[in-house]
Amino acid sequence: MSHKSIAIDGPAGAGKSTLARQLAKELGFLYVDTGAIYRTVALAVLRAGADPADPAQVVPLLEGMNIQMGYGGDGVQRMGLGPEDVTEAIREHRISGAASKVSAIPAVRAFLLDYQRGLSRAHDIVMDGRDIGTVVLPNADVKIFLTAAPEARARRRLLELEQRGQEADFGAILHDIKERDFQDEHRPVAPLKRAEDAALLDTTNLNLEQSCDRLLSLIKEKIGL
Ligand code: DC
Repeated sequence: MSHKSIAIDGPAGAGKSTLARQLAKELGFLYVDTGAIYRTVALAVLRAGADPADPAQVVPLLEGMNIQMGYGGDGVQRMGLGPEDVTEAIREHRISGAASKVSAIPAVRAFLLDYQRGLSRAHDIVMDGRDIGTVVLPNADVKIFLTAAPEARARRRLLELEQRGQEADFGAILHDIKERDFQDEHRPVAPLKRAEDAALLDTTNLNLEQSCDRLLSLIKEKIGL
């Protein structure tokens, strides 16, 4: 039996991970946060003392990188690097920019592609990222592109960081978000863009519950649940 897949793409802070997690829970599907995988690569690169923007330094590190992905008893996706659980470490602010840089390297994307596709063959999944509907799962049953104004996304990120007890500044976050959008949208390989057949949802003026309701009805209509 083939598995169902739901692809959710969009820029940082549009609500992808919160919504994807919630949808997966409602549908009984596995949630796969692909950004966490890129973040783990970025962490490994920084720890090796390499420049995340330089393919000549990053590519030789890939083969020896022991990246693990699994799920805790609470169903939360956990990332490992060798024996170490790095689920929290990859959320540090410096990792965001480094992840965006390593993700622009074609060899890094190729390295992670089969792994991501394999997950969709083994499970019913909700997978979020930047190129899921366009590159990773072009035949996904449902494709969604989430967006929101940069200011709304920066506000959400600020709240998220504050809730984790990390210090943050709105102006700096907004600046980073715009810079990351630019990098992610303008890289030559698998740039962030809406797949032609993806449904667009702008969450600027929607709360979580409203966004989730809209997406659930869309998904149920498409896959006939
Ligand atoms: O969603 P996130 O902020 O955790 O993602 C971190 C970086 O990884 C982001 O700047 C772009 C990159 N990324 C990507 O290129 N492709 C994906 N499918 C997921 C993330």
